Amino acid sequence: MKSQEENGLIRINNVSHTFNTSSGKIRVLDKLTMSVPKNGFSAIVGPSGCGKSTVTRLVAGLLQADEGSVWLQDQKVTSPRPVVGMAFQNPVLLEWRSILKNVMLPLEIVPNNLNMFEREARARNLLELVGLNGFEEKRPSELSGGMRQRASLCRALVHRPEVLILDEPFAALDAFTREDLWQTMHRLRSEEPFTGLLITHDLREAIFLADEIFVLSGRPATLQHTEVLAKRGQKNLDDLYTPEASQTLNTLREQIKIARQNEGRRI
Ligand SMILES: Nc1ncnc2c1ncn2[C@@H]1O[C@H](COP(=O)(O)OP(=O)(O)OP(=O)(O)O)[C@@H](O)[C@H]1O
Ligand SMILES: [Mg+2]
Repeated sequence: MKSQEENGLIRINNVSHTFNTSSGKIRVLDKLTMSVPKNGFSAIVGPSGCGKSTVTRLVAGLLQADEGSVWLQDQKVTSPRPVVGMAFQNPVLLEWRSILKNVMLPLEIVPNNLNMFEREARARNLLELVGLNGFEEKRPSELSGGMRQRASLCRALVHRPEVLILDEPFAALDAFTREDLWQTMHRLRSEEPFTGLLITHDLREAIFLADEIFVLSGRPATLQHTEVLAKRGQKNLDDLYTPEASQTLNTLREQIKIARQNEGRRI
């Protein structure tokens, strides 16, 4: 049997999905196949409304595909699993809990062997890693948008999930805060490896964070193009300004243009 490394820790296998809505059926995914190796980091880009968030919901077990299958760690995904952590565009922290208690929340839900002291130490450690030490006792509304997003990343990672799903977590932030958080992501990844799946509209973000970028076609989305990055793993911001990075950016722009042109033309 092939290892997860060869097969992919996340595997999306020939998945098709149609939503039934009051105004009729919307076919969102069409025979989509892709995989992310263990400890790899892949990004998904594609036109708005093509089905990217639907893919994250399938991987997280929040939605079942009509056809095809989704696999995590060689197990078919049929319901939400604690091995997955998620962060979204809107961090949704609980205002009545401190930042520390917000980060500790998954440890109250996901089964684990940690006692209260260990849980708190784990949360404090992550908050320090993302530069939020000193803010543990603050309420979410006392933090900036970028700080809230850092706290949300800590919450997504506190139970040491195998898989981190990020659905446009940096989209609402200003350019400088976003670049800061990109570097934070690399730091988190090098401290505690996980398998990452990032949805983004920001092509530079995809190039900076991912090892591999999947371009989805317009709806119904299928895999249109895969861009394997020359430089994988740890990167610094200068890597975005190399001739190779410019070339990759151009290729991705061209692919997005094709995806948008073909939108709605396929059945
Ligand atoms: N629960 C649902 N019921 C009905 N239709 C849905 C549902 N979820 C998503 N859709 C539809 O499926 C399509 C794809 O939605 P999805 O959120 O996956 O797109 P997306 O690629 O993430 O878009 P964006 O880039 O704007 O976030 C859209 O047309 C959306 O209206
Ligand atoms: Mg979306």
